[in-house]
Amino acid sequence: MVEEFESAFADFCGAKHAVAISSGTDALRFAIMACGVQPGDVVVTVPHTFIATTEAISQAGSVPEFVDIEEDTYNISVEKLQVFLEEQCEWNRSGKLVSRRSGRRVTAVVPVHLYGQMADMDPILELAHRYDLTVIEDACQAHGAEYFSAKLNRWVKAGSMGQAAAFSFYPGKNLGACGEAGAVTTNDLRVAEKIMVLRDHGQTKKYYHDVEGYNGRLDAIQAGLLHTKLAHLEDWNSKRRDRAAVYNRLLAENEALRLPYEPSWSRAVYHLYVIRTSQRDELIVHLKKEAIGTGIHYPVPLHLQKAYASLKYSPRDFPVSALVASEIISLPMFPQLTEDQQVRVSEEIRAFTSKLPTKRAEGEENFFEHAEQTA
Ligand SMILES: Cc1ncc(COP(=O)(O)O)c(C=O)c1O
Repeated sequence: MVEEFESAFADFCGAKHAVAISSGTDALRFAIMACGVQPGDVVVTVPHTFIATTEAISQAGSVPEFVDIEEDTYNISVEKLQVFLEEQCEWNRSGKLVSRRSGRRVTAVVPVHLYGQMADMDPILELAHRYDLTVIEDACQAHGAEYFSAKLNRWVKAGSMGQAAAFSFYPGKNLGACGEAGAVTTNDLRVAEKIMVLRDHGQTKKYYHDVEGYNGRLDAIQAGLLHTKLAHLEDWNSKRRDRAAVYNRLLAENEALRLPYEPSWSRAVYHLYVIRTSQRDELIVHLKKEAIGTGIHYPVPLHLQKAYASLKYSPRDFPVSALVASEIISLPMFPQLTEDQQVRVSEEIRAFTSKLPTKRAEGEENFFEHAEQTA
C-alpha cells in the first residue's frame, strides 16, 4: 500500500519519485540530509513559517539563517535572498560560500510554499545555481499548488522543481491522513534511495545497517487512506479555489482589509485563506463571539521565538515578517464551506470594520486635534 501510494503521489506532483515518511517534519529533515547538506552548514529559509521548517533544518544538523518575505505573497523575497547572498555572504579561500553572520558554509535554501501558494521558483533556482546552493521545497502546505515556470514555459506542481520537496499529510492539510504522515518527492533516484535508507534505521537489507537511520516509515494504513483520498484532491483543491474567489468577491469592498494576492504565475490551493487588518485581535474576539472560528498562522515569527533566542536576531531584522505576524487572520477555509457560511463570515467582518474610524475620519480627528492645540 505504501509503494502504491508513493507511485500515485509522485505522478500527482509530476515528480519521478516519492518516498512516504511518518511526518512532514521528518520528510524535510531527511530531504535536507539526503541532498548533501553537511552538519554545521547554513540552510536559508524564512522566519514566517511553522517552526517545523527550522526544526527539520536543526535536526538535520544544519543551522537556519533567515531572509524576509514578500509583503503580498508572504513567501520568500527573491530580492532579499539576492541581497543576503551578495552582501551577507562571501566566498572563502577554498571557493565556498560562507555566511558573514556565523562564518558557516551556506549550502541550501528552503523556500516555503506558504498557505498553499508556491514561492517564485524560477529566480530562486537561478540564484541557487549561481551560488551553488541546493533548493529543497517545503511544500507541506501546498499539495497540488502550481507555478508557471517561464523557464520551462509550462505550469509545474509543487514538489517537482527543487532537488527534493517535503509534504505533510497532517489531518488538517489539503491531503490529510488519519494521523501523522508525510512524503518527500524528488527527481533524483539517489536522493530517493538515501531517504528510503534514512527512514528505515539505515538498513538496505533487514538487519544490515549501512548508517544509523531513524524510525521514519509511514504506516500502511495511512498510505491506503491517503491513496483513496488522493483521487479527490484535484476536486477539493478546485473547491478551495472557488471558496477563495467567493471570499475575494464578498470582501473586496472592505477597505480595512488586505486580501490574499495571487500573482499571474501562481495557482494557489488555499490551504489557508489569510487576510490582514490592523485591528486583528479585536476582530478575532468579535468573530469568536459570533461563533466563527479563526486562526493566526503564525503569531510570532521564528526569529523572535524563545527557541531561537541564541541566534540573536532582533525584531527589526525581518520587518515584513514582524508586521505580517501582527495583522494576519486565517478565515474558515475547507472544500465543503458553503456560500451562506461565507456570507455570514463576511457580514460579521463588515459589522466589525464598519465601526472602525475610516482613514478620512481619522485624518479629520487629527486635523481637529491639531487645530485645537494651535488655538
Ligand atoms: C510549512 C510547514 N512545514 C512543515 C510542517 C511539518 O509537517 P508535520 O506536521 O507533518 O510534521 C508543516 C505542518 O504543519 C508546515 O505547515
